[in-house]
Formats: sequence, C-alpha cells, structure tokens
Amino acid sequence: MRAVDLIQKKRDGGELSREEIAFLIQGYSRGEIPDYQIAAWAMAVYFQGMNARETGDLTLEMAMSGDQVDLSPIAGVKVDKHSTGGVGDKTTVVLAPLVASAGVPVAKMSGRGLGHTGGTLDKLESISGFSVEMSREQFFAQVGEIGAAVIGQSGNITPADKKLYALRDVTATVESIPLIASSVMSKKIAAGADAIVLDVKTGSGAFMKTLDDSIALAQAMVDIGTHLGRNTVAVISDMDQPLGYGIGNALEIKEGIEILRDGGPKDLREVCLFLGSQMLVLGGKAQDEAEARAILEGHLADGSALEKFKQIVAAQGGDVTQVEAPDTLPAAKTLIEVKAEASGYIESIQAEAVGIAAMLLGAGRETKESQIDLAVGIHLAKKVGDAVAAGDTLAVLHVNAASGEKVREAQDKVREAYLVSAQPVPPQPLVFALVTKDGVTRY
Ligand code: URA
Repeated sequence: MRAVDLIQKKRDGGELSREEIAFLIQGYSRGEIPDYQIAAWAMAVYFQGMNARETGDLTLEMAMSGDQVDLSPIAGVKVDKHSTGGVGDKTTVVLAPLVASAGVPVAKMSGRGLGHTGGTLDKLESISGFSVEMSREQFFAQVGEIGAAVIGQSGNITPADKKLYALRDVTATVESIPLIASSVMSKKIAAGADAIVLDVKTGSGAFMKTLDDSIALAQAMVDIGTHLGRNTVAVISDMDQPLGYGIGNALEIKEGIEILRDGGPKDLREVCLFLGSQMLVLGGKAQDEAEARAILEGHLADGSALEKFKQIVAAQGGDVTQVEAPDTLPAAKTLIEVKAEASGYIESIQAEAVGIAAMLLGAGRETKESQIDLAVGIHLAKKVGDAVAAGDTLAVLHVNAASGEKVREAQDKVREAYLVSAQPVPPQPLVFALVTKDGVTRY
C-alpha cells in the first residue's frame, strides 16, 4: 500500500477501507508517513468527506493508537461529558460536583487551554494547592470514595489524534465533520466512559457556525458512540456569545462557585442543568429529564453540590477556604473598562475574539510553553439582548503585568467583539437541539 494512492483515492471521492485507514493512521503515528502526505489526505477528507463506516474506523484507529483506560474498577455507570470548545465554558467545574452529588461517578480527564479556549485544569489550579496529577490508583480511589475526580490526561492517550490535530490546526483542515467527530470520539472511547454527553457548540465562537452543521456533527458523533456500544447523546448549545460573564481562570472558578451556591448567571446555570440532566438519565439516576432536573436543582439549593466541590478540592490538595471565600482567589491588580461607542441593543458577542483578548492579557497560552496568569481575564458587563447607551461599560479587563500594547489590543478586540443593533434583540435559545440515537429534537 502507498500513501499517495490513498490520498488520490480520497481526493477523487473514493471510500477508504478499514485496512487503508489503519495504514495511514498507524504509519503516521510511527513516523513512517510524513506530515505533508497526511496534510494532503486531511484536505482531501475536508472536501470529499467520509461516510459513517469510514468515520467509525478512523475513530477506532485513533483510539487504539495509545493507552486505553479501563474504568471498570469504579462501580456504577461512568458518564463522561465533552464540549467541542467554547469561551467562558466552565461547565465541568459545576457538573463534576453537581452530578457526583446525585450519585453518578465522574472520572474526568480534562485538558489545558490553548489559543482562545480555556481549559478546566488551568481553571482548577486557580485554587491554591489544587493538583490535577495523581496515579491511576489514586484516581480510582478518589472517585470510589467521594464520587468525582478531575485530572489531566495521564499516559499516552490517542497520540495519533494529538499529532493529527496539531497538523490540522496549521493546514486549515479543522472544520471537517468526520475529522472533528473522530478526534473527539477517539479520546472519549480511549478514556473508558460507559456513556457520553456531548456539548456541541454552535454559533460565531464555535467550529460549526450554523445549526445544521452542528446537528450534522452531533449526529456523526452519536452514531460513532452508539456503534461502539457507548450510550451517547449530544446537546447543541449556543456559542454566539461567551457562556456566563467571566472569562479567565480564577474569574471562571468564582462563577462556577456562584452556581454551586445556587446563584450565578442564568445561561451558565441552564446549560449546566441541561447537560447534567442528560448525565443523570444516562447514569440511571433519573427516569427522564424532568426528574433529573428536579434532583439537580435540589442539590444546588440544599448545598450538597457545593459540599461535594469542597470534598473534591480537599481531596486534590486545594485550599477549601478559597471556595468558602472566593474573594481570596487570585485577583488582578488593575481593572480597565471597555466602553460602548454606540447606543442600541447587544446583538452578538464574538466569543472567539473575547477568548483571544483574554489570552492576550495572559489568561491563555499562545503556545504550549506559555506561562499563564490565573488572575487575569475579562468580565462582561453586557450580554446579548441587553440595552446599551454610548459610554456604558461593555466589559471590564482584569489586568496584571501584561504589556501596554497587549492591553490596548485586548481592549480593541473586546470592543469590536460586541455587535450593537438599533433594534431590540429577542431572547436567543441557549439549547437548540438534543441529538440521540433515536433522532433530533429541536427546541
Ligand atoms: N476538539 C477536538 O478534540 N478535536 C477537534 O477536531 C475539534 C475540537
């Protein structure tokens, strides 16, 4: 077999067999097939697509390219949650304790932020002492004892995806449904969950900008999970603006704690309740969404979700007093307001631009090696639908020692991210659709 023939076959609209996909992925993993050939193949897939069988085979080949985690020592149905990437998305910080407080074990492997998107591990490290590293035995023991643990991906999980994703990032081949679906699902399959809840973002800040494309991506991932025996559902949620008000590590932890204290932003609470309800149903702790939601609301109201968060923080070496007094979390020295230039109504907030602005301030990494500042970020003062008058504060930058040039750049980016309309903007749905193996429910 030769890579060039397989590139040509895909370029001309052909269907690749399991053996052909294995040849490409394994060859690439082992360094036998060079980047330029896989880049050409990824571009061929971008234009020609893949059918469900090919996408499933690609997923399995990538899942099998490294370690596979066996979560069977942990009792109960292990339900994983994955977001396709957003700005201000701190749902894991809320959902791990909330869902665990309802009796569904959460054995979560999370990532770090790169580029304009934040990462759960960085956010949790805003709590002093919080460690995201532990042995597999400690991980299993913590989930067994308190019901949840959040750690970094240990070992060598899906190395083929790691390599391919980095290549796609620099060859304009990220936004391909079979490539995204196989990338996300290979990691979920290798991480060992019994059931998977996917949060597929849609809108300006998401990979998929339209609802139809987002539903197609969700269907591809639900098909893969279902075929591989993992009960999988996908929620399509809004990314036409950041989720919640805080963007930046400590700011996001503070907002997560507000939700766990039964307060916090309505949009973040709603997305958490929707995703959490799906997790409870798949985890067998509720018959339907209504029952699940009632259970979760109860755990927010009676403090048991917050208590579970404190247990997780304590077990992972974090300072619980910072959860009790979030003002003691890292805070930036300087606050800089971004003012509106026109009056009207906020129509949208380009989430990606806000994410980049937060990164420029030091909240995220430009490269894997960048040092981040846990205290800095952006707090939005206006969200979509809000009325605004020229001179009003749109957002507040939380700044430390970032260079003057970068602060000005971040300020401009945030100002430009806000689209102001002369007409009132009707409330937007937060959750657009639910995709299951039985079909699509649009809301
Ligand atoms: N997230 C992933 O893990 N992979 C993609 O291809 C896109 C988003």
